[in-house]
Amino acid sequence: MKILFVCLGNICRSPIADGIMRHLCKAANLDWEIDSAGTESYHIGEKPHIESQRVCKENGIDISHLHARKFIHSDCAQFDRIYAMSTDVLSEMKLIAGKYWEEDKIQLFLDVEPETKGQSVKDPWYGPPSGYDEVYEVIEKACLAILKKYHTND
Ligand code: 4NP
Repeated sequence: MKILFVCLGNICRSPIADGIMRHLCKAANLDWEIDSAGTESYHIGEKPHIESQRVCKENGIDISHLHARKFIHSDCAQFDRIYAMSTDVLSEMKLIAGKYWEEDKIQLFLDVEPETKGQSVKDPWYGPPSGYDEVYEVIEKACLAILKKYHTND
């Protein structure tokens, strides 16, 4: 199983999802491949935002080794499941992917839970540090739903 999380800058939301999912897989002894990317180039090569690192660290997860990269059309073939953190990101991914778009494996991240269907993970970039704590909770819930959906014990 190869999972990719995509946001705008790949420094705030998707690195949190990346870190949580890696952590959950490790705890469940799963060798899934987890990665994250952004639709924009502004922060390529940068480590996750200091507040994303902080909230993950407070939850026992180290994401300091991650570096931002851009979402590219070949990601569509490389991954089994691809999750867009927000509706604007999903639209931009479609433009980047072009003919390589794979409708059956790419979806809005919060569509994994019926109660958050159609919603976007709020971008904490423009707000206070507490915004990162809020999105952590939302992202963790959806990551647990993904684990439950695809982790079979047979
Ligand atoms: P992210 O947040 O998409 O969750 O990584 C953002 C990071 C940077 C910018 C916007 C959103 N920016 O405009 O630089």
